[in-house]
Amino acid sequence: MKIKNICCIGAGYVGGPTMAVIAQKCPDIRVTVVDINENRIAAWNDENVEKLPVYEPGLSDIVKEARERNLFFSTDVDSAIDKADMIFISVNTPTKTYGIGKGMAADLKWIELCARQIASIAKDDKIIIEKSTLPVRTAAALRDILDNTGNGVKYQILSNPEFLAEGTAVQDLLNPDRVLIGGDIDTEDGLQAIQSLSEIYERWVPKERILTTNVWSSELSKLTANAFLAQRVSSINAMSELCEKTGADVHEVAQALGMDSRIGSKFLQSSVGFGGSCFQKDILNLVYIAKSFGLNEVADYWEQVIIMNDYQKRRFANNMIQTLFNTVSGKKITLLGWAFKKDTNDTRESAAIYVADHLLNEEAEIVVYDPKVETEQIYSDLDYLKSRSKEANRQSLKVANNPYEACKDAHAIAVLTEWEEFKHYDWEKIYDNMLKPAFVFDGRNLLNMEELIKIGFVPKSVGKPEYDAKSFSGPAIAS
Ligand code: UDX
Ligand code: UDX
Ligand code: ADP
Repeated sequence: MKIKNICCIGAGYVGGPTMAVIAQKCPDIRVTVVDINENRIAAWNDENVEKLPVYEPGLSDIVKEARERNLFFSTDVDSAIDKADMIFISVNTPTKTYGIGKGMAADLKWIELCARQIASIAKDDKIIIEKSTLPVRTAAALRDILDNTGNGVKYQILSNPEFLAEGTAVQDLLNPDRVLIGGDIDTEDGLQAIQSLSEIYERWVPKERILTTNVWSSELSKLTANAFLAQRVSSINAMSELCEKTGADVHEVAQALGMDSRIGSKFLQSSVGFGGSCFQKDILNLVYIAKSFGLNEVADYWEQVIIMNDYQKRRFANNMIQTLFNTVSGKKITLLGWAFKKDTNDTRESAAIYVADHLLNEEAEIVVYDPKVETEQIYSDLDYLKSRSKEANRQSLKVANNPYEACKDAHAIAVLTEWEEFKHYDWEKIYDNMLKPAFVFDGRNLLNMEELIKIGFVPKSVGKPEYDAKSFSGPAIAS
């Protein structure tokens, strides 16, 4: 079937950029992105493309090119469903915060609502595509809902997980390592639906990178890919602590590992801990699924990745407190960066939230500077933890819009996101205006330590030895 009309339900970090790229590459296909959130749709339609709700390098140019030509953003969900021959479901699937599976399972409430809405509107056959990351066997649930409407409409359900990373979404979409399409490969109709979707991607993705599997493999591959990536970060973070104790340098270790072609060099950057909407949620989901099949050893194995990550965030904050003479009470501490990684305004599960919360529990006075994150987002991230009242959060944590102001009179600075601009600050000026000793805790190993030491800072970075490693005089081995 030649697709003429696409609808995408959910105009978030995945739906927005993905549809913008499809619209750019397929000018003959009408792409409508719908969302129930009116503010979000208004922002996608804003004349000023700087105000798009998702910040991604290169995205605004693509939106400018395609918007109103064949890319539309709307709140009229029903009409877009009605007209579409292909519907992407790209709504949020957060970890459940209530009931059975609380804190572990994915909440499929929004997915189910979408399915019911599609079922109530559709008058002709449609291809439904799972784009959100979902637990294995969600497609079966979708099918149950859609096939039981009794109105004779036939649906094909495909799983087409998105592997884009935030901050590089446009590049990842334009040049993906692979496109994965899971479908009903045992039936003619299933194969045709896969073909229709594949033809869209083939406009710009080499055919050999488009992989077809059964639905379950596709669903499970997405969870597994994220679990493996997160596992690498937790593994190198585990080594970072051992490096600090032994005098090894985690950078040197990572480099040596990365040159083994069986291991590879990516995702070996030790840090204050991984964040983002996917890693934790997908692993919890995997753990939940494994447990529900009674696979306790499998569940425990993956859960350890999360336990290590929580530990790394806590360890970073504790290290700050210890270094600041065991108390941060009443001390001004500056956090540079709040986003979960550079080049995005997304803060979901950002390590910064947990570091800030920990320091606030110790009565620190925090000032945050992030080049892209809105003030209200920072407060709402903290309020969400319910550690203290909203007023207390606003009293003890302030948001600055100038990094030099943010660092003035601080006892310590912590770099929590690897924004490029942090490297190029006038660190001498920052030093001059800080209290001494001027501590810098580099949670991203971003700054040039030697330069900072020359200026007079006392810098600490993750996974670097505490003493002069070159002297070979490591800590005494306990006997
Ligand atoms: C290993 C390291 O590869 C090598 O770099 C180091 O110097 C010594 O230890 P070796 O034990 O000789 O080498 O063999 P290797 O190929 O790594 O296999 C180890 C075991 O893992 C084997 O039993 C192998 O069958 C198994 N394996 C390996 C798997 O089960 N699956 C894989 O994908 C790879
Ligand atoms: C991830 C996957 O990479 C992507 O394929 C999937 O579609 C969604 O989830 P994302 O969460 O956007 O993407 O960003 P990613 O680059 O994977 O980083 C996740 C977190 O890990 C960030 O907080 C990042 O700072 C951290 N990280 C990453 C490290 O601490 N060290 C590394 O070496 C790599
Ligand atoms: P992701 O990172 O997966 O893209 P986001 O939270 O950024 O997740 O985006 C999901 C979007 O889906 C939100 O803007 C939300 O308003 C929207 N959404 C959720 N449920 C529905 C629904 N039933 N109909 C339309 N939009 C929905």
